[in-house]
Amino acid sequence: MGNLSDRKYAHIQLANDAQIEKDNLNQLFDYEPIFSAHPESIDLSKEFLGKRVSAPLWISSMTGGTGEARIINQNLAKVAAEFGLGMALGSCRPLLESDRDFEDFNLRPILGKDLPFWANLGIAQLEELIEANELNRVRELITKLDADGLIIHVNPLQEWFQPEGDTYKKPALETIETVVVAQIPVVVKEVGQGMGPRSIKKLLELPLKGLELASFGGTNFSKLEKLRENSKYSSKLHDLMFVGHTALEMVDQINLLQSELGDNCLCRDIIISGGISDTLYGHWLSEKCALNNVVGRAKGYLDHATDLEELRAFVSGQIETLKMAKAFLKLR
Ligand SMILES: Cc1cc2nc3c(=O)[nH]c(=O)nc-3n(C[C@H](O)[C@H](O)[C@H](O)COP(=O)(O)O)c2cc1C
Repeated sequence: MGNLSDRKYAHIQLANDAQIEKDNLNQLFDYEPIFSAHPESIDLSKEFLGKRVSAPLWISSMTGGTGEARIINQNLAKVAAEFGLGMALGSCRPLLESDRDFEDFNLRPILGKDLPFWANLGIAQLEELIEANELNRVRELITKLDADGLIIHVNPLQEWFQPEGDTYKKPALETIETVVVAQIPVVVKEVGQGMGPRSIKKLLELPLKGLELASFGGTNFSKLEKLRENSKYSSKLHDLMFVGHTALEMVDQINLLQSELGDNCLCRDIIISGGISDTLYGHWLSEKCALNNVVGRAKGYLDHATDLEELRAFVSGQIETLKMAKAFLKLR
């Protein structure tokens, strides 16, 4: 379509299909088109979890230890390295049992030394390790993966819905505190329900390296486990699937709490995630959030992760959109 006359012809042909309803207007931002040139050189980089990332995007915990997981993880690590993003592994539980799947998780050689790379375990596994006095195995895991620390997923509802799920013998807070006291760098997350103000407050008061929202409104592991269940006579009713907190609610809470807590807000890095349906919505939440943050997605990356070119285009599309947003949009 380089030729001007061809382009003018296309304009006439496509005008009919190019109508947009007023209802589709993005209400989150003011559009201010006169104050910036096109943003070729806008720098999106920032410090996050003690390292420098080139863009405020995060690949949230997903997989390992099954079929396509290796190729998915390797592709995710390749784009993270290429675009300078931080990423987390899915639950590393298989590595506590054997080294058979180690290569699924061995992404540091692809990612390089300089980007955030975090291991992941659930509360139930940590409870068992603490009970057996084997927390040193977490340290060994982190060292073996050359990870920066451990993301702990708190998932009592998922465990409850999961047909073969575990039960917590203690409150998750006790387990988290024990890991923190053992000087293991910790980020805490949910798995798609988010968490309420009391939990957020307590976690912000702990010397965590970060908090990931994993909020309600996207992938939901209660629903996922319920889908896996095939008993006609289940005692696991759907009701509990719908409790939780959206990313917006959680960001608002974090903002209130960080001013209330002042210097007692020890956790300063936030991964805004869970149901981030598009790049501008994530950017809006990121701009609203008073603490240092990046925007995480899981399913969004998974949708493109088996095809490296497609994944590259998805990440590049997010970054280019963010640059345009920085140049021309202002938070309403
Ligand atoms: C396929 C898949 C596997 C996941 N596995 C894990 C996991 O092992 N550990 C974890 O903490 N979260 C896991 N999650 C949850 C995500 O990290 C994230 O919190 C959740 O999916 C919400 O983000 P989303 O709405 O962008 O998908 C997984 C998500 C997906 C889609």
